[in-house]
Amino acid sequence: MPTDRFVFLGIETTCDETGAAVLEGPRPPRTGVPQVRSSVVASQITLHDRFGGVVPEVASRAHVRQILPVIDEALRRASTRLSEIEAVAVATRPGLVGSLVVGLTAAKALSLALGMPLVSVDHLEGHLYACQLAHPEREVYPSIGLVVSGGHTSLYHCRGPVDAELLGGTIDDAAGEAFDKVASLLGLAYPGGPEIERVAREGNPRAYAFPRSCLHEERIAFSFSGLKTAVLYALRGQDARATGVAPTAQTVADVAASFQEAVIDVLVAKSRQALRRAGLRRLGIGGGVAANGRFRERLTAMALEEGIELFIPPLSLCTDNAALCAVALPKLARGDVAALDIDVSPGLVRPTRA
Ligand code: KG4
Ligand code: ZN
Repeated sequence: MPTDRFVFLGIETTCDETGAAVLEGPRPPRTGVPQVRSSVVASQITLHDRFGGVVPEVASRAHVRQILPVIDEALRRASTRLSEIEAVAVATRPGLVGSLVVGLTAAKALSLALGMPLVSVDHLEGHLYACQLAHPEREVYPSIGLVVSGGHTSLYHCRGPVDAELLGGTIDDAAGEAFDKVASLLGLAYPGGPEIERVAREGNPRAYAFPRSCLHEERIAFSFSGLKTAVLYALRGQDARATGVAPTAQTVADVAASFQEAVIDVLVAKSRQALRRAGLRRLGIGGGVAANGRFRERLTAMALEEGIELFIPPLSLCTDNAALCAVALPKLARGDVAALDIDVSPGLVRPTRA
């Protein structure tokens, strides 16, 4: 006898985190914001650390090992039996092809074996929806959404949970990728974002005048590769191939603080520009870089100045996790169920207006 509550499973394997979540919301076609009963993430950081970045083949193999124990653990923590699950949602794009395939295969197997609907979720829509998930009682749309992660730095006009129009994005590196690469230049561990944030606390953000690309341009775009090169030159002089002497702890802190401030200046300014241009008064932030404390501080100050509402998820919902699959519920509410022969889409498929 079905109750009015609808319990579903989320699976996330787009990059290097294996995630499963048990979510609960109103029964479709009713709409409403799901609650997270449990969310389990098995991180692969220790596997990729020594390579200074994610190695795709290592990531897929780790997903294969971890996916079933992670699903079991999510069910256990939610005190939910598999037989109580009524749908399975999985992030099928964008991401690393081998990683995506593992999550989708697990989701298809569950869907087929238990005869329940399969919902295909866009990971970036999931990052944006984290703002609604974290603030179920607040009106999040229409808003400007900024996804700022290891693979993406993009601004969207969000008209609803699954109705986002891309306004512009990075023309080269993503902001998180720049954090990771600069951390590696500074001899810091992977992932670089939290490490740069940590050492930057002891540094002077005005010690180096690093470039702020696209800052005064009309177009909504980002570019971080010039900034990365500027950090390299600051550390090694004009000869980029020179190995040079190891920088002092103070130099590392100053470079980290100056780099972080340059990235944040651009992210904040471009978000402000997008808000003004669209005439919107709400801003939602998603993705791993949104975990950065200095960034959150600067966004809060900008929101006060502009008189806009700011939505930033808690840290656990900023970085990759399967609770982001909650965006499957608004999809299910409009009957958006995937066929069992769907494939992954590793490349960037722009969320467009429905
Ligand atoms: O969203 P996410 O977990 O995975 C992707 O979809 O890419 O984002 C990971 C990225 C990494 O580049 C990581 O260095 C960055 O988010 N990151 C941070 C912080 N925590 C994670 N960047 C800056 N400051 C942080 N505290
Ligand atoms: Zn992500």
